[in-house]
Order: sequence, then C-alpha cells, then structure tokens
Amino acid sequence: MEIGIFLPIGNNGWLISENAPQYKPTFELNKEITLKAEQHGLDFVLTMIKLRGFGGKTEFWDHNLESFTLMAGLAAATSKIKLFATAATLVMPPAIVARMASTIDSISGGRFGVNLVTGWQKPEYEQMGMWPGDEFFGTRYGYLEEYAQVLRDLWETGSCDLKGEHFTMNDCKLSPQPQADMKIICAGSSDAGMEFSAKHADYNFCFGKGVNTPQAFKANPERLMEATAKTGRDVKTYALFMIIADETDEAARAKWEHYKAGADQEALEWLGLQAASDTKSGKDTNVRQMSDPVSAVNINMGTLVGSYETVARMLDEVAEVPGTGGVLLTFDDFVKGVDDFGTRIQPLMKSRNPVKLAETA
Ligand SMILES: Cc1cc2nc3c(=O)[nH]c(=O)nc-3n(C[C@H](O)[C@H](O)[C@H](O)COP(=O)(O)O)c2cc1C
Repeated sequence: MEIGIFLPIGNNGWLISENAPQYKPTFELNKEITLKAEQHGLDFVLTMIKLRGFGGKTEFWDHNLESFTLMAGLAAATSKIKLFATAATLVMPPAIVARMASTIDSISGGRFGVNLVTGWQKPEYEQMGMWPGDEFFGTRYGYLEEYAQVLRDLWETGSCDLKGEHFTMNDCKLSPQPQADMKIICAGSSDAGMEFSAKHADYNFCFGKGVNTPQAFKANPERLMEATAKTGRDVKTYALFMIIADETDEAARAKWEHYKAGADQEALEWLGLQAASDTKSGKDTNVRQMSDPVSAVNINMGTLVGSYETVARMLDEVAEVPGTGGVLLTFDDFVKGVDDFGTRIQPLMKSRNPVKLAETA
C-alpha cells in the first residue's frame, strides 16, 4: 500500500479547534515535513488548493499558500518522493496548467502529477468574480472532462485542437512535454466524480470514514470498481485519514477528545453553510461528509486514534479493502506525526514492503 502525506498548505492543517496546534503555513514547514516523509520512504506528498477560509476564532484556512508554486519549491528540495499539486480548474486555463506541470516535471525529474478539482465552494471563486453560476454544481464534471482532454493532448502529443463546449483550442502547443507519464488524481465521490475518475484519472481520492473504523470507506472503491468495469481502466482508491497516535490508546484518545472539546463552532458553521449550497451532486458527495456534525472538527475525514501498534494494525486493515491503492495521511502535529509514523508505526505495518523501504533508507 502506498503512503502519502496531505501537506498543511493551510493554517492549522485539518483540525478546526482552538485546542489543536496553531500554526501558519510556510515553505519551511512544508519542506521539513516533505524531507522527513522522503527520509522515511513514503511515496508521495499532495497539496490542496484553497482560496478562501472558514473564519472563526482560529481563522481556519484563512491563510493558504498556492499549490503549484509550493510544489515547485519542494520539487527542487527533494530527490525521490512523488509530488502532486492541485489545479483550481475554474480559474487556471488548462494550457497554462499543462505548462506549469511540465515545468515541475523538469524540476523534479519526472516525479510530478496533478489533482484536478472542479471547485465546490462558491465564495472561493465569487470573490474574484469567477463563479460561473450555481448551475455549475450540476455541470462541473462536463467542464472537467474537456479540461482533462486538453491536458492529456498537450502532455502526450504536444498539441491540442479541441473544439469543445467549454474550451476552444487552436493548434495549441506545448513543449517541452513531460518526461514522465503525467498522473491525474480526481477526488470526487459523487456519481459524476466517479465516472470522471474511471474515464480520465489514475487515482481517485476519497475520505476515510468514521473513528477507528478503517474499512468503513469500502463503498467508495466498490463504486469506483463498478465505474472502471465500464471503462476498462485501472484506477485505484486512496483514502484520507487523520492519525492521532501516542504511546498508549488512552493517551491518544485523550488528545482526540481535547481537540474535539475545542472545536471552533463559528468556522464549522460556515462550512455547514457552504456544504448546504451544493444541492446538485447527490448524497455521496464528499462535501456532505465534511460538514456532518459527528466529527466536523477534522471535516469528518476518517480518523485513526490509538497507540502506534493500534494505528499500524488499523492501517493494515485499510490495505485489505479491495480496490485500495494507498492512504493519504494528515496529523495533529505534522512534524512529530511523520517522524512517529516513520519510526514507530510503519515498521509494524504488514502492508508496507520492508524490502522496498530498506532500499530507500
Ligand atoms: C483528498 C481530497 C483532496 C481534495 N482537494 C481539494 C482541493 O484542493 N480543492 C478543492 O476545491 N476541493 C478539493 N477536494 C474536494 C473534491 O475535489 C471535490 O470537489 C468534492 O469532493 C466535491 O466533488 P464530489 O461532489 O464529486 O464529491 C478534495 C477532496 C479530497 C477527498
């Protein structure tokens, strides 16, 4: 099973709590975490794009770096780990994104790929006068299909002449083309998101679900496998989990309860309003899950709480879910969390290949 880190490109990572570590996103912090991840033999790092935060006392995600420029810096600072940036496709023309990607491919020596998001949070785009109207909630994956076609044409053939509904390309050129096969992530879970992933993506990322229920996300890979059965493409599911680990189960549980007790209600209320405004994507969209009050303090991503042994065992259970290619991890404290993962958790995992890890050491 592959292991990736969802880097804290926004302030406070993924804990919307006054009791969680409070920090701003910086290049130095993200570099430190990425170098540790590389040193521990982890497979990849990903950054999201977030253009407007949730406010509240913790100013949650009001402070965010930009994904491609951050990954370009990290590409220059690393040598082995794979890097993925997220494209805000509504506001970044595909021919520019294709060229940015081939530039980072050059910086990294072929270690780069792109996460394509349609955008689901209207205020991020409305603040720039670039929200196309609420009908976009229903049409966004049609837009993304053409977008992906332009990228693939440019990366694979160096030119694109697509005459689509959303994009008109006129013998558009790209050179240099990337040296490595450019991988595409899609992180949609709606039916349209799954169909898109089955047709165009290499990986589908989804939320893990629940607290200490490592296999509860299994409906996602099942739905993806149904979709890929129609397209005949090999696309694996990667599940997002937060790790809260400590010496004992009790110590880890106490940290988790403490974070929940300090939940920033004002910021969470804002998230709830945003999620409610998308009425077109159906019941399985990730956006619904994010605002569920059960564990909104970390936007309801799957959470694994326990001793290092307990967390290692639960990650092995994740790996057993059919269709799963890997996990994307977040931590309460990223610097310590990645180190603890590398030295205390990973060595106990059966789903990590010890031979491969020894080679990278
Ligand atoms: C791991 C992961 C990363 C994501 N990254 C972003 C992001 O950077 N920017 C964004 O606007 N949405 C992001 N999303 C949201 C999805 O891309 C998608 O827009 C959202 O789930 C709604 O699509 P859906 O209705 O198909 O689920 C992410 C979701 C997941 C699970």
